Amino acid sequence: MLNPELVERAVELLRRGGVIALPTETVYGLAANAEDELAVRRVFAIKGRPATHPLIVHLPGMEHMASWARDLPPAAHQLARAFWPGPLTLVLPRTPRATDAVTGGQDTVALRVPGHPVALAVLKSLGGGLAAPSANRFGRVSPTTAEHVRVDLGADVDLVLDGGPCTVGVESTIVDLSSGAPSILRPGGLSTEDIERVLGHSVPVKTSTQVRVSGSLASHYAPRAGVVLAEPGEAAARVQALREQGLRVGVLGPEGLVLPPDVARFDVPADPAGAARVLYARLREADERGHDVLVACLPSASGLGIAVRDRLSRAAAPRDAGH
Ligand code: TXA
Ligand code: MG
Repeated sequence: MLNPELVERAVELLRRGGVIALPTETVYGLAANAEDELAVRRVFAIKGRPATHPLIVHLPGMEHMASWARDLPPAAHQLARAFWPGPLTLVLPRTPRATDAVTGGQDTVALRVPGHPVALAVLKSLGGGLAAPSANRFGRVSPTTAEHVRVDLGADVDLVLDGGPCTVGVESTIVDLSSGAPSILRPGGLSTEDIERVLGHSVPVKTSTQVRVSGSLASHYAPRAGVVLAEPGEAAARVQALREQGLRVGVLGPEGLVLPPDVARFDVPADPAGAARVLYARLREADERGHDVLVACLPSASGLGIAVRDRLSRAAAPRDAGH
């Protein structure tokens, strides 16, 4: 998986203003040198993302945090020590090193040290920050394999590094430490329970529909097919009702569901971490089969189940034109 020659080629490209796709433990990222404004602008252009939506800066290690962010509260050190490298992003007041191109003009910056050997090797060799959103077109399902990236963006990126399937499978948890008491802006690959255990107090989830966190737009993470949510016990009835409307229906859910015999089921395990790992890949597979609508069974609302339920709810939300 870790090919030193490819890592060096990636770093060369990044130093010359290139844009590459690289694996992280959460999802694949579309990366540019965070201090190269032209390259960062190309990331926005490739994704088709509005330039006001800020990007996460990925760092080689927590010792880099203080050159990108200032006024670090004790919680920043506590969380970084406990969970970096890992699926956690911290929003902090920025230093001038984090430019407007990356932060969308906000006075804060989002930082994360990813827990994937390929991403870390690239970051350590580069010695700086990589601005990297998920490597999908804006509003679509995030990629969790190199193949997903090639299908979505292949021709537009200078190199796709293949690090195998992502082990976490949903994006990082974003914690805002820039405005008083910590809050969670996006539930993700690190559970709220784990964060609260380290901080020693409860941390509210404050997802909003402001543009500030683009993943919080209601219709984000949408496959082409429609998505209908169901508790596992309701799936069969939902399938039946949708079929009566003449729709081609697929199911995302665990083994053991009682379903009509001829319904295609895409396996999303009942355990939340297992569901998170395969969710995006299954959404893509189901989409490729041309279903009109997917009945998605919700995992329990604990651990990574919160992030899975969040993504499924957004996939099920009414779509803007063009999604
Ligand atoms: O797991 C992840 O976080 C992946 C991998 C590639 O690291 N990245 C990712 O990036 O999900 P992206 O751009 O798809 O989502 C980043 C989120 C956006 O919702 C953005 O609005 C939010 O981070 N964000 C970035 N900077 C922020 C800031 N200063 N304040 C609040 N939210 C911020
Ligand atoms: Mg994204």
